[in-house]
Amino acid sequence: MAIALCPGSFDPPTNGHIDIAERAARHFDRVLVAVVANPSKRPLFDGPERVRLLSEALAHIANVEVVAFDGLLVEFARRRGATVMLKGVRGASDLGYEVQMASMNASLAPEIDTVFMAARPEWSFVSSTLVKEVAALGGTVSALVPPGVARALRDRLEPG
Ligand code: PNS
Repeated sequence: MAIALCPGSFDPPTNGHIDIAERAARHFDRVLVAVVANPSKRPLFDGPERVRLLSEALAHIANVEVVAFDGLLVEFARRRGATVMLKGVRGASDLGYEVQMASMNASLAPEIDTVFMAARPEWSFVSSTLVKEVAALGGTVSALVPPGVARALRDRLEPG
């Protein structure tokens, strides 16, 4: 049974994240989308909210499970039996840091491989950070995030 772990902050989940999870689910028996409960930057949405938003957006895929985690990612992967960390990359600017994290994780857990999946071109410019910025400034992000996330952003950011 090949299990892939897709870790991230998902603050909030975007269509790019959903696309990576959907495509990963075609290649692995099971995909665990792992939400870091306490990311280094204070999140807009707390851990349970991010898990709920992702679970709702991924409910249509039977072999995807959304889980929260804290602590060292490789230890979580070992506990859950994942042998692959799967990361989406949007372009060269993502790759430097991702390769650094992959190398650190490989030094900690050589039996776990990191696999990079190229983002689809239509999502290559989408990041959680930019989505939050645009939404906070009154821009429309409904084409870039799942419907539940667009609603949650409106509820969170709209005055009154
Ligand atoms: O979506 P993000 O913020 O780019 O995800 C970063 C994440 C969660 C993958 C990374 O911060 C992480 O792996 N955190 C868990 C703690 C850990 O194991 N750190 C060492 C990584 S080399």
